[in-house]
Amino acid sequence: MATLNENYLKLKAGYLFPEIGRRTQSFADAHPDAEIIKMGIGDVVRGIPRPVADAMKDACEELAHDETFRGYPPGQGYDFLLEHIAEHEFGSRGVQIETDEIFLSDGAKCDSANIQEIFGLDNVVAMTDPVYPVYCDSNVMAGRTGKADDEGRYAGLVYLPCLEEADFAPPLPDRHVDLIYLCSPNNPTGAVLTRADLARWIDYARSEQAIIIFDAAYEAYITDDSIPHSIYELDGAKDVAIEMRSYSKTAGFTGVRCGFTVVPKQVQVVSADGAQHSLHGLWNRRQSTKYNGVSYPVQRGAAACYTPEGKKAVRELVDFYLANATIMRKRLTEAGYTVFGGDNAPYLWITCPTGLDSWGFFDKLLNEANVVSTPGAGFGAAGEGYLRLSAFQHRHLVEDAMNRICAL
Ligand code: MLT
Repeated sequence: MATLNENYLKLKAGYLFPEIGRRTQSFADAHPDAEIIKMGIGDVVRGIPRPVADAMKDACEELAHDETFRGYPPGQGYDFLLEHIAEHEFGSRGVQIETDEIFLSDGAKCDSANIQEIFGLDNVVAMTDPVYPVYCDSNVMAGRTGKADDEGRYAGLVYLPCLEEADFAPPLPDRHVDLIYLCSPNNPTGAVLTRADLARWIDYARSEQAIIIFDAAYEAYITDDSIPHSIYELDGAKDVAIEMRSYSKTAGFTGVRCGFTVVPKQVQVVSADGAQHSLHGLWNRRQSTKYNGVSYPVQRGAAACYTPEGKKAVRELVDFYLANATIMRKRLTEAGYTVFGGDNAPYLWITCPTGLDSWGFFDKLLNEANVVSTPGAGFGAAGEGYLRLSAFQHRHLVEDAMNRICAL
């Protein structure tokens, strides 16, 4: 009989968002008349911007004709898109990224889960607590951890508790680590890393010869001009950091799927014999073996985000969700809740009322307000006592949800 990768048995029973979906469904089954408002998983609700949708439509039409048909896309992506990314995402901020340092993919989730397989199992991995569960679970699956304790902390991982008293900024590890996952703007807390924060992390990584896996999927939500959108805005980052981006929360691509990872050529990993290897070459090898690239229509759609009309439409979408977050923050604060995030991120991080833990508050909102949220404890032990609300919802539903929560 086929045997199991025993590491899978260390995982919690279900991934966080399907588990929330399951609880929501069982509530809906028991209360068929309830008008449930979903503010749990960060899934966008507005239509894809018209210029982007039109570009995808035109690309589909090209594929329907022998003369303009295209088969396998180039492994890292078509130049027409890579050039836009290098210019608009990085060049415009004074950062030089070569087009062949960009790897298109089906999203930051997959890249952030897959990247760990290039690294040896003996690497010491640090991640924030709370954390986007993908970073943690992918390392558990690979066998880089022991079992979880009663609070869900896996043996062998170095947790960086992000506490309210420190504005949810992750502390530097108090020991050597090899891999560091950072996310700014942060999912789930909505906190951002300042230039000074990032400079400290880059110094740490350089002195420990560690690699930073920087998830910038929410960078478009930064409203504070002093906050870096890319880790490469900081000197020295190109030696020690890779960066992930996504079109999911900007162009509405959660279902369409497209993102990219920047792997600068100078980032190095060492083998057991002491030789250094370029992470760029290894990621290229991995992707070309296991992945066939992003489809042509999707790449055309992503490229249309960089035309003047596309940029304007994407900005309007992001601003719409940010305005939701502002409304939510204001209403909840007025109602007496302690609220963080929502100013540079589409997520609000809310302190649970006295006497309720994260899942208790989740249940209360679901049962009494029919609003779906995400319990902070689902993102790690330090998330206990908090709850996340997503601003990705239609305006009238945001207003309804706030009315209901504030009336509790
Ligand atoms: C979230 O709700 O945390 C995100 O939607 C997850 C994701 O982007 O995969």
